[in-house]
Amino acid sequence: MTKNFLTSQTTIFIFDSGLGGITIYNYIKNIFLNINFIYLLDNKYFPYGNKSKNFILQRLIKILQKISLYHDISLVIIACNTASITSLPELKKYFSFPIIGVTPVIDLAIRKTNNKVIGFLATNTTLQNYKIQNKINLLKKKYIIKIISSPKLVFLAEQKLLGYEIILSEIKKIFFSWYKLKIFPDTIILGCTHFSLIINELKIVFPKNIIFLDAKQYIIYKFKQIIQYNKNLSDTKKNIVYYTKINRNISKIKNIFLKMNFHIFKKLET
Ligand code: DGL
Repeated sequence: MTKNFLTSQTTIFIFDSGLGGITIYNYIKNIFLNINFIYLLDNKYFPYGNKSKNFILQRLIKILQKISLYHDISLVIIACNTASITSLPELKKYFSFPIIGVTPVIDLAIRKTNNKVIGFLATNTTLQNYKIQNKINLLKKKYIIKIISSPKLVFLAEQKLLGYEIILSEIKKIFFSWYKLKIFPDTIILGCTHFSLIINELKIVFPKNIIFLDAKQYIIYKFKQIIQYNKNLSDTKKNIVYYTKINRNISKIKNIFLKMNFHIFKKLET
């Protein structure tokens, strides 16, 4: 594959239904210092966790078509497991720029687990996906896979970032059935980018020494396959946030992004 060279015009477009993609941005921003980032949160249709594959694919096509009218996109990162798992292969057929995404790191969990009990947290749409279902069914022969899909957990993660208090007993309630397990998972797949936002809270409510796995590191790997990175470019960053709805949290959302060096805020009409 021929790599695109990074220039001071390089613009990476990060997409999530909400604020979960911030976990990906925070990870890559320190590695790729002088890239322009555009972050779009589709807050008009948040959450995506129970939406159909067709809805998500059509929504992504519409958003990317619109954004590429205004910006010369070098790379798209779908920082949402639900959107990636449902739409990535089809989505790539519509656009000439490279598109990469995060998906649950099931194979990594298999390599890490010692007690062969793996926890898998993701949205309903991710867990219902046939690729994920096939994988889980195959693994069930050798491993115990404890699955939890909780829109509440996505909501709590978003609330935490917006500055609302997050009540640990609410998280504990979600995992009620796990506390009765004879063997607790020693490895937990965070198959939704929102869950990495509440990793500290998860560490408090779960037993010690659990390995939490998300897909951050893989994004860097995929990124480097596509873009030739040159650290010495001058730092002329112009980061932009797009949202799809003005709601009561919008000023809080802007403040979150201001602290992350995003200074331009726009509503995308879709
Ligand atoms: N952050 C998204 C993911 O990684 C989905 C959250 C949602 O919109 O339900 O799956």
